[in-house]
Amino acid sequence: MTEYENILYSKERGIAYIVFNRPKVLNALNRTVFEELKEILDDLYADKETLAVIVTGHGKAFVAGADIAEMRQYTPGEGREFGIFAQEQLNRLENLPKPVICAINGYALGGGLEVALACDIRIIAAGAKVGQPETALGIFPGFGGAQRLPRLINPGNAKYYIYTAEHISAERAYEMGLVQEVVTLEELMPRCKALAEKIMANGPVAIRLAKQAINEGLNMGLRPALQYDAEIFGALFGTEDRISGMEAFLAKRKPEFHNR
Ligand code: CAA
Repeated sequence: MTEYENILYSKERGIAYIVFNRPKVLNALNRTVFEELKEILDDLYADKETLAVIVTGHGKAFVAGADIAEMRQYTPGEGREFGIFAQEQLNRLENLPKPVICAINGYALGGGLEVALACDIRIIAAGAKVGQPETALGIFPGFGGAQRLPRLINPGNAKYYIYTAEHISAERAYEMGLVQEVVTLEELMPRCKALAEKIMANGPVAIRLAKQAINEGLNMGLRPALQYDAEIFGALFGTEDRISGMEAFLAKRKPEFHNR
């Protein structure tokens, strides 16, 4: 396994762990972190054994945003280039053909919330705070937050929190549907692992294509999205896992899936 300076990356029993690890600056995202994330995503795109991914932060924060000290001297061109590079990696994270669970262990602010928004499911520790405080710095959420947040929650709420730069409590995030569950910090990783295992017990090809249908469909109108669904739904009938899933149900036994 490659060692990274700013990210702990490991794999165990079909689950890959991406742990942001710059605790002295609350895991702030600089250019190097995104370069490391790019390599990790290259590995995960090629990896057929890993069936789920958990993203979290080391220490008291998940990620407190993009690295303000590094961005401080950026020119407009450098700011644009950084935004594009970060967006590319978060788009790849969003479309990774495996379920990605975000374990929000502490502050997920600015670019940190934008990482969480690119994951499929978000579980938060009570006491953690999320938010898009960029306008307090004279910028706005440029790593996808200005687009993903109003698509995920009520656009009025997204604008409220982007304009005011207010931090959002775990409970308020849950109330708005921004996260799926609030658990204690002690329960956070066990709960995320249990959730990953529950998902992994289902047909991996079906999960992969369900994710593809949902992500692609969200960028289309309803009619083309339904047509797209029909195509990939049909393709599933040619898979070995579909046959063993249905045969197992009819024989009243547990299915065995082989990801093909
Ligand atoms: N970039 C660089 N350094 C950061 C950082 C960031 N985003 N967030 C925290 N740090 C550093 C602090 O400067 C501090 O360093 P020193 O010990 O050298 O002083 C260290 O991390 C610890 O932080 P605090 O002392 O501030 O810790 P706290 O517990 O008092 O406060 C916090 C925690 C509320 C998260 C506060 O650190 C904070 O507000 N951080 C910035 C949050 C933010 O504005 N994020 C958005 C960044 S812009 C962005 O993300 C761009 C984008 O979308 C495209």
